[in-house]
Amino acid sequence: MGAETSKAMKDSNHIVSQPDVLTETELTRLCKTRWLGKAFRCYEEITSTNTEAARLAEEGAAHGTVVVSEIQTQGKGRRGRRWTSEKGQGIWFSLILKPDIPPDRASALTLVTALAVVKAIRGITGTRPLIKWPNDVVISGRKVCGILTELSACAGVVNHIVVGIGINVKKQEFPEEFAATATTLEGEGARPFLRSELLLAVLEEFEHYYALYLKTMDMEPMLTEYNSYLVNQNRPVKVLDPAGEYQGVAREINRRGELLVEVEGETILVSSGEVSVRGVYGYV
Ligand code: BTN
Repeated sequence: MGAETSKAMKDSNHIVSQPDVLTETELTRLCKTRWLGKAFRCYEEITSTNTEAARLAEEGAAHGTVVVSEIQTQGKGRRGRRWTSEKGQGIWFSLILKPDIPPDRASALTLVTALAVVKAIRGITGTRPLIKWPNDVVISGRKVCGILTELSACAGVVNHIVVGIGINVKKQEFPEEFAATATTLEGEGARPFLRSELLLAVLEEFEHYYALYLKTMDMEPMLTEYNSYLVNQNRPVKVLDPAGEYQGVAREINRRGELLVEVEGETILVSSGEVSVRGVYGYV
């Protein structure tokens, strides 16, 4: 919603004002999912919801537990970067997953999550986000959401997977290196909404796409839909591979979640991991 901290709603002929808070009571009351978010752990302040989710998962927290915080003092981004997480300005949360899948299938969950976030943001805010492969959601070429998937596995068995999602809702002081590429839902003209509504919509969408993912343990059942939201499609991109940077034209993803990049008539399969993709003429 806008800069206000509550939303006026019409409820059986009364205008009631609902507070824009992310509490266990409120989220549990409104949650309509089957298994995701059957337990919420909500904090006022935490270092990082991903770090806390990993700790809780080690302690035995159930598959589907959702960890939320109003503030993260050490929010983590990809590649050791930090993630700005000011009080009440966004939705900072992590999903604890304990699937029975081979560890090398886990990275596709970042793509599943991006699809769920895009669908939820579209439904709740009326904005038109797209996916910047593999882990960003963008509006008008600027990043509104980042996803950080962290895997704990041993001897070929997944212990747990933590999927961290950060959605920028309201204006924040982004570090200088992100100021030109980051945006917020409010800044992109979102209609008024409660952060709890959007968080719960992400959980509902995630359940839907996760069920599809489990059918084949890859992106095959949602390939067409994913590619229809791919902002990189048919754009010139720079692939920042630690082994050497190169340029090509991004086409689509395949069922394994790799990005197909055409380089001088040849198709290169780019897998996420340490590789990052930028637009040749800017961030997208
Ligand atoms: C990125 O784009 O670099 C990934 C950003 C992920 C941020 C989210 S916010 C909730 C969760 N907790 C963290 O510490 N990071 C993720």
